[in-house]
Order: sequence, then C-alpha cells, then structure tokens
Amino acid sequence: MELQGKRIVLGVTGGIAAYKAAELVRLLGKQGAEVQVAMTEGATHFVTPTTYQALSGRPVFTDQWDARMPNAMAHIDLSRQADCIVVAPASADFLARAAHGLADDLLTTMVLARDCPLLVAPAMNRQMWENPATQRNVAQLAADGVTILGPASGEQACGEVGAGRMLEPEEILEAVTAFFVPKVLAGRKVLMTAGPTFEAIDPVRGITNLSSGRMGYAVARAARQAGAAVTLVSGPVGFDAPQGVDRVNVRSALDMHGEVMARAAAADIFIGVAAVADYRVANAAEHKLKKDDGGLPQIALIENPDILADVAALPNGPFCVGFAAESRNLEAYAQAKRRKKKIPLIAGNLIQDGFGGDDNRLVLFDDRGTHPLAPAPKSVLARQLVEHIAQLITY
Ligand code: CTP
Repeated sequence: MELQGKRIVLGVTGGIAAYKAAELVRLLGKQGAEVQVAMTEGATHFVTPTTYQALSGRPVFTDQWDARMPNAMAHIDLSRQADCIVVAPASADFLARAAHGLADDLLTTMVLARDCPLLVAPAMNRQMWENPATQRNVAQLAADGVTILGPASGEQACGEVGAGRMLEPEEILEAVTAFFVPKVLAGRKVLMTAGPTFEAIDPVRGITNLSSGRMGYAVARAARQAGAAVTLVSGPVGFDAPQGVDRVNVRSALDMHGEVMARAAAADIFIGVAAVADYRVANAAEHKLKKDDGGLPQIALIENPDILADVAALPNGPFCVGFAAESRNLEAYAQAKRRKKKIPLIAGNLIQDGFGGDDNRLVLFDDRGTHPLAPAPKSVLARQLVEHIAQLITY
C-alpha cells in the first residue's frame, strides 16, 4: 500500500483514453489512495460517472455548481483536501485551458485554485500533440512546475501511429508513487547488480542459484524513485526492469564483471545485490554433452572475479554497498565480508527470511554499527536502504 492515506483528485477529460482512467482509479485505490474523480463534460461522452463512482467508492463531480457541496465551493473544497491532482487523460483542450489559467469548468477551476502539485498525462492524436500550440502549452505548464507524464508513442485510436498515446495506467501509478518519494539521491548515478548468474556447462546446461532478483529490483526501483539515474546489470530474471531504470542483461559472472567495470568509474554509488556464482566451469563444452560420450562428465571449476571487491578497490571509485545472504551467523559473516571487500556498508539477511519471497528482514552494518530493519516487504526495505545510503554519503 504505497499510497496509503494519500488523497488524489483524478481529473478525467474528454478522450478515448478515459476508459483507461477507470483502471487507474482501481490501481490507485489498491495502493491505499483515496481517489476523488472530477470529470469534464467532454469526458462523460466516453465513460459515465457511474463507472468511476463504483471504482472509487465516491461520488464523481462534473459540475462546478454541484448541489452536493453545501457551500457551492466544490472547486476549492475538493482541491484543498488533495495531496495532488492527476489529470489522465489530459486532452489538448484541457492543456490549453490550464496553460492559460482559464477556469471555465470544475476541473480547470480546481486546477487554478489548487495549493497542491499537478501531474498531467496527455492523450491525443499525434498531429494534435505535435502542433506548436500544444507544444507551447505543455512547455508553459512544465515551466509552471506541472509534471508532464508521457505521452507514449504507438498505435492510436484513430489508426495513426506516433506520439500522443496516454501512458498505461500502471506507468501513471508508478509515476504518482515516485512523485511522493523524497528525492534523496537526486543527481546521483547508481550502478547495481541483481539476480543470479548462470555459468554454462554446455550450450543448454549450467550452474545457477535460487536468487529471484526481487530484492535487487526493489532497490533499483527505490533508487530511481529517489531521483537517481540507475543502471542495473542483471542476471536472468523473469520480470521487467523497473520504470526508468536502464537495464543491461548478462548471463555469466564474467559478463557481469565486464559490464560493471566498464561503468563503475562513472558511478557515484555501486550496490551489489546479485548472487554472483563464485566459480565458473573451466571446461564448458562447445556442444551439448551426451550420455554416450563415455563416463561421468568431469566439471572443473575456476574462481570468478569478485565484482564488488574490484569496484571497491578502484581509486576514487563509487560508494560501495554489498549484500550478504547467510544461513547462520549473520553478523559475524556479514561483518567479515564488509572488512574483506573494504566496503562501507553491507546489508545482511538470513536466507530463510527472504530468499525468493516478497518479504525480507535486513540488518545494515556500517562503520557506525548495526542497524536492524523491521521485517517488511522488499519494496519498503529497499526504500529504507536507499535512505540509509543517502545519509551516509552526505554525512
Ligand atoms: N559479489 C560480487 N562478485 C562475486 C561474488 C559476490 O560482486 N564474484 C557480491 C555480491 O553481489 C554481494 C556480496 O559480494 O554483494 C556477497 O559477498 P560474498 O562473500 O561473495 O558472498 P558469497 O558468495 O555468498 O560468499 P560465501 O559463499 O563465502 O558466503
């Protein structure tokens, strides 16, 4: 519930993407937000207020003179209670009116009367989007401090292809969630590893481990939400990169090492979350091993480079953070790894507390001591870790 207690006014304007706003209401509500929908008259031609009312559990406002507001001040009352106003879809006409400070319906009046941030997700035909008038209006809104979400490019309802599609509801949800996260890593470059590595035995077989990549991906997302530019060098995992995170896909520890070392000098912070195989197969077969090849296959192992230790050893290198997944003696092992790799911070967890699942229990070890974090979803722990890193680098 990443938006617990947040009050969001969702403005819906006239456009075919209004049907996607229904899903956005549901997603925002699922994350704990209280959603108050306000529609323009144009929007009611695409989706009825009843749809949003059912999904938000609140009456929908379309009219500035709505008799349900005893003081006839809907525009003031609704926007003053809000933590932000999100307009999705935002039509070209709405953007024009908002850019010029017009207040000729409930939504534009609320936008003008607001004392909270405004986020808009434009949605329109590509010619309308590219029109200099729209571009001028969007530039003006951005200059006024409005957050512009998208638009995306792709196939449009009119059959044309180009920029002007509204972002998907999930993308808008992520942008709204990120909007509320303090930007403690603004302007920082974060380089990370996550997931398992895969060390080939032959073209179809290999040595890997049970790391799901969830913790690393949660940290990448939290760092991005905190304002960092994030590059995630990732072993094979079964999900997409977090929004706004630049992912570099690798398979083996050697590849991961190469991709990390090529970027490490430019990074401010390096976070090694990957479960890197300590050994690779020295005699990997070019062709698939066959049972008939004779005898038991002999697999010889050689040690992989230690990515984290190598980054930590760079002169003027990034601030380094490691992870230690242990099955016992967490503090002793984690501290020993921190000293051996000469890193300022390591996050330790017991495998039985977190491997593969959504929740985890982390203990942070740094020069100032031991900081146990309460058991929580990985997204929450990731945010706490990012805040801890931000504190240490500005200390
Ligand atoms: N790490 C790395 N490169 C390696 C091995 C590990 O960057 N070749 C990083 C991991 O991403 C993690 C930390 O180092 O941040 C884990 O330390 P390590 O001592 O290598 O952990 P284990 O491999 O689990 O060690 P051991 O098997 O001895 O417990």
